[in-house]
Amino acid sequence: MKKILILVTALMMSGTLVYAADADKGKDLFESPTLGGGTTGNSCSSCHEGGKGLGSDLFERMDNKSLAAVINNCIEKTMGGRAIDPEGQEMQDLMAYMKTLVTKADVKKTPKKIEGC
Ligand code: HEC
Repeated sequence: MKKILILVTALMMSGTLVYAADADKGKDLFESPTLGGGTTGNSCSSCHEGGKGLGSDLFERMDNKSLAAVINNCIEKTMGGRAIDPEGQEMQDLMAYMKTLVTKADVKKTPKKIEGC
């Protein structure tokens, strides 16, 4: 009982808990037009289905912080939504799924510099 209490207290004190990134959840977010409260009806998948427009070297060119900024820019500009927490669970899941997309054989290396949406 004491152990459980300690565990619960520890969980409460840790605030925003980020669990391991989940690519399956990321897929749902990638295909959701309401990610970030999107209002245009677009999801990431509307324009980037199967990794289209994303370079296979995406994760080598950008660190997670700059990639999160690009993604949030996309949410605001193309989906009419609001930026999500760059270090939050949704962002981690989204990136985990995007990693599975860009490492597919038919996604090419980025031929030119892309600034984002
Ligand atoms: C309305 C279409 C559209 C939507 C919706 C959209 N994007 Fe994009 N995105 C683009 C275009 C166009 C580019 C630039 C690609 C190019 O120049 O070839 C881009 C670029 C990017 C890049 C940079 C690619 C690179 O290799 O440097 C990332 C990352 C990205 N988008 C992620 C997302 C994510 C994540 C979402 C959903 C939250 C999203 N995009 C929604 C059209 C869109």
